Amino acid sequence: MNAPIPEPDALDLGLPAPFQDTALPAEVRIHEVGPRDGLQNESALVPVEVKAEFIGRLAAAGLRTVETTSFVHPKWVPQLADAEELVPRLAGLPDRHPGLRLPVLVPNERGLERALAHGITDIAVFASATETFARRNLNRSADGAMAMFLPVVRKATEAGLRVRGYLSMCFGDPWEGPVPHSQVIDFGVRLLEMGCDQLSLGDTIGVATPAQVTALLDGFARAGVPVGRLAVHFHDTYGQALSNTLSALRSGITTVDASAGGLGGCPYAKSATGNLATEDLVWMLHGLGVRTGVDLRELVATSAWMAQRLGRPSPSRTVQALTGSRP
Ligand code: HMG
Ligand code: MG
Repeated sequence: MNAPIPEPDALDLGLPAPFQDTALPAEVRIHEVGPRDGLQNESALVPVEVKAEFIGRLAAAGLRTVETTSFVHPKWVPQLADAEELVPRLAGLPDRHPGLRLPVLVPNERGLERALAHGITDIAVFASATETFARRNLNRSADGAMAMFLPVVRKATEAGLRVRGYLSMCFGDPWEGPVPHSQVIDFGVRLLEMGCDQLSLGDTIGVATPAQVTALLDGFARAGVPVGRLAVHFHDTYGQALSNTLSALRSGITTVDASAGGLGGCPYAKSATGNLATEDLVWMLHGLGVRTGVDLRELVATSAWMAQRLGRPSPSRTVQALTGSRP
C-alpha cells in the first residue's frame, strides 16, 4: 500500500507568486474595523476580555490601525456599551507594537469627553451622504449631524487628536436608492474642511461596482481632494468588495478598511452585510506584490479563533480555504 500523502500547508501551496503591478501602490495601510464595525452587529454580547484578546491578536498579526470600539449612546449600540472597560485593557499595546493606532468612533461632544477621559489619541466621526440614514443612525438630518460633528472635530484637533471622517451611503441607500456623486462629494469635502485628516468613503450596503468607484474618486480629484486623504470602506453584500478595492487602488487609494474574518454589518442598515474580509484583502494584495505588514497566517488563526467564540464559521473565503472550514 502507498504511504499516505501528507496534507500540504494550504498557505504555502496556494499563495500566488507576487506579480508586481506597477499601476498599484507599493504599500497599503489596512484600517482594521473588525472589533468595531464587526462586533457592533453581533446579536450575542462578546465578553470584554475576548474583545481585548481579539484586538491584541490583530496587532500581533501586524495590523497597525485597529478601530476598537465606539463612544456612542450605549442604548443605540449595546454591543459596544463596554467601551470604558475595554480601552484600559489595551493600554500596553502601543508600546508592544510601535506605530499602532487604536481609533474609536465618537458621534458628539459627550462621546469626545468620554474618549478624552480615557486618553484616546485617534477618533472618527461618522456622517451620512443621505437624509434617511442620518436620521436612522444619528437621530438628526444630514446637516444636523454635520453641525453635531463640528465642535467635536474642532475640540479634538485642538487637543492634538487625529480625526477621521466617515461618510456612509456613498454609492446607494436602501431607502433613497442611488446617491448622486455631487451629494457625496459635497458632504465629503465639508468633513475634510472641518478638520478631518482622512475621509473614508463607505459603501454601507455593498452595492457599488468597480466603475462607480473610479467615477466617484475621479469626482473627488476634480473637486481638488488629494487621493492621499481618502480611504475606502466596502461592505461585501453583493461580492463586489474586492473588485471595488482593486479599482480604488488603481485610482491611487492607499488606505483600505477591512474587517478580520469579514465580520460586520450596520445595526441601522439591515441590508448591510460584513465588511470586506481583511484576509481576502491581504491575499490579493500580497499576490500583487503590495506590502501590508500583515502576517496572513496569524491573522487567519485569529479569525478562526474568533469564529469559534461567535459559534459560526467566518464568511471570509480565505479563512475558509486556509482552515478547511467551508460551510
Ligand atoms: P440622541 O438620542 O439624539 O442623543 O442620539 P441626545 O444628544 O438627544 O442625548 C440623549 C441622551 O443620550 C442624553 O442623556 C445624553 O447624555 C446621552 P440624558 O440627558 O437623556 O440622560 N448621550 C450619550 N451617552 C453616552 N455617549 C454618548 C452620548 N450621546 C448622547 N456619546 C446619538 C444621538 C448620536 C448619540 C445616537 O444616535 C448614537 O449613539 N448613534 C450611534 C449609531 C451608531 O453607532 N451606528 C453605527 C456606527 S456607523 C457605521 O457603522 C457606518 C460605518 O461603518 C461606515 C459605513 O459602513 O458606511 C462607520
Ligand atoms: Mg461599515
